Order: sequence, then structure tokens, then C-alpha cells
Amino acid sequence: MRSILPSVGAVALCLVAGSAFANSTGISGRSGKEGVSCATCHTAGAAAPTVTLEGPAALTAGQTGNYALIITGGPGVKAGFNVATGGVDGATLTAGAGSKLVNGELTHSLPKAFVNGAPVRFDFTLVAPATNGTLKVFGAGNSVNGDNEKTGDAHANATLDVVITGGKDPVTPGEEDEGGCSATSGAPLVMGAVLALLAARRRRAG
Ligand code: HEC
Repeated sequence: MRSILPSVGAVALCLVAGSAFANSTGISGRSGKEGVSCATCHTAGAAAPTVTLEGPAALTAGQTGNYALIITGGPGVKAGFNVATGGVDGATLTAGAGSKLVNGELTHSLPKAFVNGAPVRFDFTLVAPATNGTLKVFGAGNSVNGDNEKTGDAHANATLDVVITGGKDPVTPGEEDEGGCSATSGAPLVMGAVLALLAARRRRAG
């Protein structure tokens, strides 16, 4: 019976991590990595902006790279964003000015104003994981009309591949975690450990 508890905990954690608390003070889970983006709430109708991800397309394991998500055009009063990584586990994102880390992803702290029509830029750094492979950076940028509503805004997505070399090779190539919530895949391990512990205890008792 006891072995069920860790998996229940893992699932609860997964639900919390995946939930989108959505408003102008930032959002996670909408970078495009999970297939959904800002348009699930922000209705179309406005001209879409151009969104690009800038930064090195190759890093060595553990190296820090400077990146930016840049939003040009669209309604163009203010802007927000969401950036996540995938493909290779273990990359570390650090938020730059005007943004923050939420559930391991980056998002705006507050809508950032376009100044004189110039593109809005959200800078961040990325520390490459210890494992070789192609790290995917997923980005969504929302260009908004600044009315504090989800209407009259438009977004676009961008992705950037970063090739990681000089680290260790992946242990099980092809067996990637596509689920986006590593907590669930940890559950069998936890249950295995609990069973092993119980078995050891039983051996000692007997
Ligand atoms: C689940 C619904 C939902 C999703 C998804 C969502 N938003 Fe929002 N967003 C809202 C709501 C509701 C508001 C208006 C209320 C507020 O300002 O908090 C809003 C407002 C905003 C504003 C201010 C709008 C303005 O005109 O002043 C920005 C900027 C913003 N969101 C960015 C984003 C970005 C970037 C994404 C995608 C990465 C996103 N939002 C995805 C619900 C959502």
C-alpha cells in the first residue's frame, strides 16, 4: 500500500507544474513546445508579429550562451513571451531584465513596451546541458495592444536548434521524454526503490 503514495505525489506535482496561470504577468507551458501557444486565449484578428530567437546555434556542454527572443510588429504597444527548451534534458535558463523563471521556463514579468516602434527584446542566458545532442529552444512572442485584455493581440512562434557537443553521449538514444513532465517517469523508479527497501527489510527480519 505504501508504495502507491510516491506515485500519487508525482502525479499531483505534474498537474501543478503543467497548469497555466494565465495573465499579463507571465505564463509557462505556452512556448509552442507542447503544441499550444498564446492563441488559446489571445484571440486573433490583429496582424501577427515576427518573432525570432537569436543566439549561438552550437554550444559545448556546460557553456553559457547569450540568447534573445525578439518581437517585431503586430499590435505593437506592449509584448510578452514564453521560452522553453526540449530535446536534451538539463539545460539551465536564466531570465534577463523584465523576465522571470516559471516552472523552468522563461516569461515576461510585466508586458514590455515597444519604444518608438523598435522591436521588443527579451534577453536570457542558457547553460548547455552535460549531454550531447540537439537542444531545441521553443519561443512564443505576443504583441499586444496594451488594453490589459486578451483581445486585439497576436502572437507568433520561433524555434532554434542548438547543437551540444563535448559532453557525454545520451545513454538511451531514441528514448526521449516527450511527455514534458519528468515527474511521472520518475514514479516507477521511486516505486522500485521502495520495493527494494521493503525486500531488504524483510530479508533482515527473517
Ligand atoms: C489561458 C489563457 C491565456 C493564455 C494561454 C495566454 N494569456 Fe496572456 N492574457 C490572458 C488574460 C486573461 C489577459 C488579460 C488579463 C491580464 O492582463 O492579466 C492576458 C493579458 C496578456 C498581456 C497584456 C495584454 C494587453 O493588451 O495589455 C500580455 C502581454 C500577455 N497576456 C502575454 C501572453 C503571452 C506572451 C502568452 C503566450 C506565451 C499568453 N499571454 C498566453 C490570458 C492568457
